[in-house]
Amino acid sequence: MKIAIMGAMVEEITPLLDFFGSYETIAFAKNRYYTTTYKGLELVIAYSKIGKVNASLTATTLIEKFGAEQLLFSGVAGALNPNLHVGDVLVATALTQHDLDITAFGHPHGYVPEGSVYVETDASLRALAHKVAHAQNISLQEGIIATGDQFICDGTKKEWIYKTFNADATEMEGASVAVVCDALKIPFCVFRAISDAADMDAGFSFDEFLVSSAKESAQFIIAMLDEL
Ligand code: ADE
Repeated sequence: MKIAIMGAMVEEITPLLDFFGSYETIAFAKNRYYTTTYKGLELVIAYSKIGKVNASLTATTLIEKFGAEQLLFSGVAGALNPNLHVGDVLVATALTQHDLDITAFGHPHGYVPEGSVYVETDASLRALAHKVAHAQNISLQEGIIATGDQFICDGTKKEWIYKTFNADATEMEGASVAVVCDALKIPFCVFRAISDAADMDAGFSFDEFLVSSAKESAQFIIAMLDEL
């Protein structure tokens, strides 16, 4: 089984590369892909750089060029739901693009014809995640993630995304990865640890907690691999 593990920023995959220790590096399309094996699994790891376009390119490459059969995303997110706090790990049930807007033509936010507002993550991977969390006594939250090409650091915008999409957290890649995996029929799941509250202090909080929260998410991914 070949598994892709993807992040958006170098900080999001460094804990994984440090854990695996040795890997091969392959340059492709202005990016680097890292291959290794772990407990009988073939792994291909990459960070996409920030945003939906970069994430779509990387997810497609991981699947079409490297032959990944499942994809796990690991990274950090801003909390929209007040019950989520810095360091909490969240598995996405479904993802949506909060900045996709053709409401001028009567469509709901996040929708384009022949698409859907929400793309669901793989139910088996989600079930496995809960099993792993339970077995290892890790607290794992579940929720909707809203993705857009914007770092959310404003209370009004945050409330709008929270209410419009019933979303629990926000980030800048997950929904585009979801669209790619759904189209290419690759089971996928998105894990995010909270780094900030997507409010006026989000920039400071993100800088402070990026590394530690990215580690929380990566550690959960490693625990998942032990059970795959
Ligand atoms: N990733 C982590 N925090 C975020 C935020 N507040 N907005 C967008 N992406 C994020």
